[in-house]
Amino acid sequence: MKCSIFSGTSAQHLAFEISKFLNIPIGKITVKRFPDGECYVKIEKDVKNETCILIQSTYRQDKDLIELLLIGDTLKDLGASKVITVLPYLAYSRQDRRFSEGEAISVKSIVKLLEIFSDVVFVINPHKSYIIDYFKIDAFEIDVSKDIGEYFKNKLKNPIVVSPDIGAVNIAKSVASSIGCGYDYLEKKRLAPGEVEVKSRLEYENNDVLIVDDIIDSGGTIIRAIENIKAKNYFVGCIHGLFNQNSIYKIYAYGAKEVVSTDTIPNPVSKISVSKTIAKRLKDYLKEIKVL
Ligand code: R5P
Repeated sequence: MKCSIFSGTSAQHLAFEISKFLNIPIGKITVKRFPDGECYVKIEKDVKNETCILIQSTYRQDKDLIELLLIGDTLKDLGASKVITVLPYLAYSRQDRRFSEGEAISVKSIVKLLEIFSDVVFVINPHKSYIIDYFKIDAFEIDVSKDIGEYFKNKLKNPIVVSPDIGAVNIAKSVASSIGCGYDYLEKKRLAPGEVEVKSRLEYENNDVLIVDDIIDSGGTIIRAIENIKAKNYFVGCIHGLFNQNSIYKIYAYGAKEVVSTDTIPNPVSKISVSKTIAKRLKDYLKEIKVL
């Protein structure tokens, strides 16, 4: 059965690697912008009756989402038999509940948008696992936290992995299991967006402490964690490195020896590639549906 990989402009680095690993060609596509910023998309390949894998990260939020919608919807319109959407980073996932009356449950609306053109969706470490249940179509999570563990394996002395709050403890547990060490977590309270209060203190003065989180945005959560852990050395890893507000610099300034993220979002420290982990999961799925 015929299959090709398409990508918008936000995750081409992953699309190329996944294409090589799966030996599935990249489909020809033009994505450009009109002078007013509107997106233009042209699929330059016959996709009739093809299975199309569409990879797009959405860290530039609305811009990436519209690009994704135009590509996905056009693939379907041109007769693709199946669109498999892969989201290395799913935007709006932190607004996953109505925290106060009248608020949009933003990620639910984004899920509906993805369902317009997707037959199946793979999300790399969504902010909360229950987001997957918002989909009415088949949807799966791909957990890449072990890739962070593999990166730090043999780099740390007497390591312990710590998550800055209970929400990221599963990531800490998984990273710790691939390093082969223990894990712990801090108790955090969010006062306002970008403003957090840590309610506990950890003493690991003889350990290299690796602090891990799913997302680093302003860096506030990680900095508060560093302030509340006594460690020999601090290392920091995350899955989705948004790194706004000069946060990489700030985290180093607070004493981190190394700050690193995966490449679900390309950034100056996205040294850990998740392309193989994604490709392996896609390979299993393509075998299941008899495309490979
Ligand atoms: C929150 O629940 C997330 O897991 C991250 O801790 C948070 O998004 C990080 O944001 P910031 O870097 O702005 O503190």
